[in-house]
Amino acid sequence: MSILVTGGTGFIGSHTSLLLLEKGFNLYIIDSEINSSKNVLKKISSILKFSDEDFSEKINFFKGDLRNISFIEKVFKSAITKNEPIQAVFHFAGLKSVYESNKYPFKYWENNFVGTLNLLKTMEFNSCRTLIFSSSATIYKSVKKEKIKESNLIGPINTYGETKSTIEKLLHAAFKSQPNKWKIANLRYFNPIGAHFSGQIGEEPKGVPNNIFPIILKVAKKEQKILKIFGNDWDTEDGTCVRDYIHIMDLAEGHISAFEFLTKSNPKIISLNLGTGQGHSVLGLINTFKKVNEVNIPYEYTSRREGDNEFVVADNSLAVSVLGWQPKYSIEDMCKDGWKWAKTRK
Ligand code: NAD
Ligand code: UFG
Repeated sequence: MSILVTGGTGFIGSHTSLLLLEKGFNLYIIDSEINSSKNVLKKISSILKFSDEDFSEKINFFKGDLRNISFIEKVFKSAITKNEPIQAVFHFAGLKSVYESNKYPFKYWENNFVGTLNLLKTMEFNSCRTLIFSSSATIYKSVKKEKIKESNLIGPINTYGETKSTIEKLLHAAFKSQPNKWKIANLRYFNPIGAHFSGQIGEEPKGVPNNIFPIILKVAKKEQKILKIFGNDWDTEDGTCVRDYIHIMDLAEGHISAFEFLTKSNPKIISLNLGTGQGHSVLGLINTFKKVNEVNIPYEYTSRREGDNEFVVADNSLAVSVLGWQPKYSIEDMCKDGWKWAKTRK
């Protein structure tokens, strides 16, 4: 069976592609390489001990942009020509910087929203109506110290979050138009960090990272002198913000479970939180990283970052009960695996 993975060379897409290949699926991967490189595919192939023949048979890479609908159609056609039509889509491709999204809203709307619209139109045209979508915890209205349920109010406060919540609306509209055909899972991720246990693939953003974990890795490698912690005056145990960090392989497994769930179920649209349900403060994450990896992470406190929430932790009970999925890895594992990968990188 063939699956299309958009954004398949990015952080979450590459780790999920690895699991899909392990399960025996043929992949059609689309990526513009704006924030990644197709080199990761060779590494995935080496982890899986693929021969050159396996590689060219199972991994069909197409460099291109979802903003170009005729390009997407070409990829679907190519699968049909090989007599292995695409039957489901894992849609990771998107831009994800909160700061950049507020600065360049048109770029974000065009890339995330128009890209998804083009994808959906092409899926419908090709009678492919099973979709796993990368949504985000950033769409929820902020809450004080309570774990977030899927039924919480939606109220994003940045353009990035607006694009994600609007895409969710578009997916609901698609489902409503043909409720007997679409199978859609909106997976709302919390904070994925870490890397594959092999140490061969991890998070490799192009340009300057904004997220805490790639910055910790840079400081640990002495490529950046100091980590700036955004505020120590939040109403939390140690004054720094709390997040629900989830091991990238647990997140990737969540996608496989969601796909297996959709495959077995009747047409439906479902939104699920993928987090561990455990909160860790920024300071707690840094101290764990230092302890398990025996490295120094110099830090200093600066003012709060605009748009940050104090406490963002998932109530993951719906995903656990519906999917039978359970995150397995601890914050220590996330720190160890992330460092195992990063310390060997140039
Ligand atoms: P990433 O940047 O590593 O991967 C996204 C990939 O999509 C990149 O390889 C990029 O080159 C590609 N891409 C971007 N726009 C494209 C387009 N128009 N056409 C084709 N390819 C395009 O990011 P990630 O962390 O792997 O995130 C994957 C998805 O999950 C994104 O949609 C992101 O918004 C969402 N998400 C991520 C997080 C997180 O913390 N990493 C949290 C919540 C949601
Ligand atoms: N932080 C610092 N210093 C830094 C970077 C981050 O103190 O240099 C802090 C932030 O203030 C926040 C925490 O580390 O308290 C985590 O920040 P990230 O930027 O790593 O992650 P966010 O929680 O802000 O957002 C991330 C993704 C979003 C996604 C969201 C889901 O960037 O795309 O998780 O919860 F939607």
